[in-house]
Amino acid sequence: MGATILDGKKVSQLVKEKVKKEVRELLEGGATPPGLAVALVGEDPASKIYVRKKGEACEEAGITSHQYNLPDTVTQEELLSLVRDLNGREDVNGILVQLPLPSHVDSKTVLEVVDPLKDVDGFHPYNVGKLVANDVNLLPCTPSGIMEILDHYRIPIEGADAVIIGRSDIVGKPMAIMLMHRHATITVCHSRTRNLAQVAAGADILVAALGKARLVTAEMVKEGAVVIDVGMNRVEGKLTGDVDFEAVSEKASHITPVPGGVGPMTVAMLLKNTLTAYRKQTGR
Ligand code: GUN
Repeated sequence: MGATILDGKKVSQLVKEKVKKEVRELLEGGATPPGLAVALVGEDPASKIYVRKKGEACEEAGITSHQYNLPDTVTQEELLSLVRDLNGREDVNGILVQLPLPSHVDSKTVLEVVDPLKDVDGFHPYNVGKLVANDVNLLPCTPSGIMEILDHYRIPIEGADAVIIGRSDIVGKPMAIMLMHRHATITVCHSRTRNLAQVAAGADILVAALGKARLVTAEMVKEGAVVIDVGMNRVEGKLTGDVDFEAVSEKASHITPVPGGVGPMTVAMLLKNTLTAYRKQTGR
């Protein structure tokens, strides 16, 4: 029997429509539009596509998009200066610095300079601390988008054995914490994990976020598991997830496709965070 497809495109549409409606109501009430500033450094083709999608989604929702394309020769001080300028601007409610940054720029330093109230990525140490303390402020977009998918399809989380493959700051770590706060039992696996296949096969909820095409095979998945694929790998020009979709969908009860699963949720949650940040800043 084939798995139910977790349609991230559809769920992201619902989130975006809700944001759009709320923004429209704000504007009708005489408010100025929310604004999101996105800084892109260099010419990374994938980053360029993501940033373009973020800008388009903003405009569609009535959020003003301010895009800054900087050459990869930009100095750390120049980038910090842009972020400080954006921190001070009233028409900018959210700031996102697209990662990865060139190696001569220290990402951690840049992320720490973003005003935590405008940190729509949820990457500032203040917001990371808030997440760990379960005192929610702005949550990282990809894992919060995954929670949104799980909730939309009423996947039981409490008491579930959740295995996360990948320990990145952007996905793996915050995902583990969010699932733990919802009372799942968490295992985080990574490149040095022994018996990865065996650990993964114990999962009721399996989140693959390692960035290796088709790493998760059918043997690594329990019958009836819910499989979330965060992978965005280019294989011979084709976008491919971390999960062997064809084989795994014969075993899983639910699975996200690539594309059309987690990816669109990240953008939708960014809009949601921008609106949340706007409301906190303006009191509206
Ligand atoms: N690069 C890959 N994913 C992300 C993300 O969610 N935010 C930012 N800023 N950069 C990314």
